Amino acid sequence: MITIAEAITKAQAKWAAQQVKPALVGDFQVAKQMMQLAELGFEPSEEIIEPVRLMLSRYGVLLTGQTGVGKTFFMRSMGRRLYTAAEIADYGLSQLHKFFEWTDGHEIVIDDLGTEATVAEYGAKDDLMKSVIAHRCERQRGVTHVTTNLTAEEIAERYGDRTLSRLLGMCVAHRMAGKNRRRAVPNVATPAPTVQRVEAIATKGAA
Ligand SMILES: Nc1ncnc2c1ncn2[C@@H]1O[C@H](COP(=O)(O)OP(=O)(O)OP(=O)(O)O)[C@@H](O)[C@H]1O
Ligand SMILES: [Mg+2]
Repeated sequence: MITIAEAITKAQAKWAAQQVKPALVGDFQVAKQMMQLAELGFEPSEEIIEPVRLMLSRYGVLLTGQTGVGKTFFMRSMGRRLYTAAEIADYGLSQLHKFFEWTDGHEIVIDDLGTEATVAEYGAKDDLMKSVIAHRCERQRGVTHVTTNLTAEEIAERYGDRTLSRLLGMCVAHRMAGKNRRRAVPNVATPAPTVQRVEAIATKGAA
C-alpha cells in the first residue's frame, strides 16, 4: 500500500517531468534572422537577441520602452501582422467579433497599447482592450505580441491586475532601452517645388 506522503512525492516527480518548456531556437537561426533584419534597414543590436530568439521559438513578446526606440519597426521588420490598439478600439464592441474572426489562429502584434483613445477612460474603450486581451489569452489560438510605452505598473493601473496577469501569461516582457531614433526624412512622394510653383504660390498668397 502506498502512503499519502509517498503518493505526493511520486505525483510531484511526475508533475515536474511534465513541465517541459518549449526549446529555444539556436544561435544559427537567430543570426540568420539578424541578417534579414539588417537587410530591411533595422540595425540589429545585442539587446534584440532575446526578443528575436523568443519570437522564433513561438513565444509572445511584450516589448516595452520609450518612444522611438524601434519597437514597432522591429515587429514590422520581423514580418508580423500589426494592429494598432487605436485601430482595434475603433472596431467598437459591436464589431469586435470581426476582428476576432480575422485574427483567430494568427500570430499578431497589438501595437502601441495604451495610445488608444482615453475619452471614455472608465467606459467602453478601456473595457474593450481588456476584452481583447482576455479573448486572445483564453479563447484564441495564435501567438500575441504587444508593444507599449507603458511600464508593467502603468498597465496594471490602466487595465487592472487581471489584464496584466493575462498579458504576462501570453508574453515574455522585454524592455527595449536606447535612444529615440526617430528623425525627419524627406518626403519623396511630394513633388519638389519648381520656381514657377513657388512664384504661383507667392502670387496667390499676395492676392
Ligand atoms: N534598430 C533600428 N535601426 C534603424 N532605424 C531604427 C531602429 N530603431 C528605430 N529606428 C528608426 O526610428 C523610427 C521610430 O521607430 P519606431 O516607430 O519603431 O519606434 P517605437 O518604439 O515604436 O516608438 P513609439 O513608442 O512612439 O511608437 C523608425 O521609423 C526608424 O526610422
Ligand atoms: Mg510604435
